[in-house]
Amino acid sequence: MSKTKVIAIANQKGGVGKTTTALNIAAGLVKAGKKVLAIDLDPQGNLTNYIGHDLDELPTISELLQQIAVNQLNSESIQQSIRTNAEGIDYIPSNILLASADMFLSNVICREQVLHRLLKGDAFAAYDYILIDCLPSLGILLTNALTASDSVLIPVQAQKFALDGLEQLEQIYAMVKENINPELEIEGVLLTMADNTNMSKAVESALTDRYGSKVYHSKIRRSVEATNSTYEQKSLIATKSSKLGAEYQAVVDEMLQ
Ligand SMILES: Nc1ncnc2c1ncn2[C@@H]1O[C@H](COP(=O)(O)OP(=O)(O)OP(=O)(O)O)[C@@H](O)[C@H]1O
Ligand SMILES: [Mg+2]
Repeated sequence: MSKTKVIAIANQKGGVGKTTTALNIAAGLVKAGKKVLAIDLDPQGNLTNYIGHDLDELPTISELLQQIAVNQLNSESIQQSIRTNAEGIDYIPSNILLASADMFLSNVICREQVLHRLLKGDAFAAYDYILIDCLPSLGILLTNALTASDSVLIPVQAQKFALDGLEQLEQIYAMVKENINPELEIEGVLLTMADNTNMSKAVESALTDRYGSKVYHSKIRRSVEATNSTYEQKSLIATKSSKLGAEYQAVVDEMLQ
């Protein structure tokens, strides 16, 4: 069995398509026969909702991290925290408790490594891919995601000032790579919500200048399909004749090459 690959989907800028990308790449990888776990690491719980989660009393990622923080994680909570959605994607939901992670992780030793410790457990070894949907901020949860990951996939929205802020993300990436996780790599940079405006083309060429071959050839265009897909709680990949679905499928194909 090959090693599990952990990928963080990150950009601290809000609304750039992280969650849409996380869910659809997960769906595409499942379609390609991979065993995939998606983790919602955002207290907003957008992935949790998009993936079709029904509220229950079982542990979420918040409870797991809290239990690790007080050294009381047990394998039963891990098993209970993993659900499977209608499309066969395993997932761990989040809830609003995660918003206080800054607090409950603040006194933990090696607090950047809490998620990493979780994912090293036996329950996760069977996955081909673990995708982490990050929140739009640069705090402790992002550092945890980067510490636990093999690579980071950065969605960038084709709009004005799209590249502002990427420098901060790169600084955190470099800090984590230098000090905690030397194997960390950039998985790829994905242009999202692209259209035919000059602005969109300018962002695309600026990205290529900056990240070269790390930029996916496939890009995701702007389409109402995305919002409809979250409303229907069904991936674009599984939506018949969806244009965005085909574009996300092309990104997955590039990843698998
Ligand atoms: N390609 C697209 N075309 C049009 N709308 C899109 C596209 N991708 C995502 N959207 C919409 O844009 C909004 C933000 O997308 P999404 O939630 O994926 O971004 P995010 O980066 O995860 O946001 P946040 O930073 O809040 O976590 C959503 O309403 C989503 O449906
Ligand atoms: Mg999101």
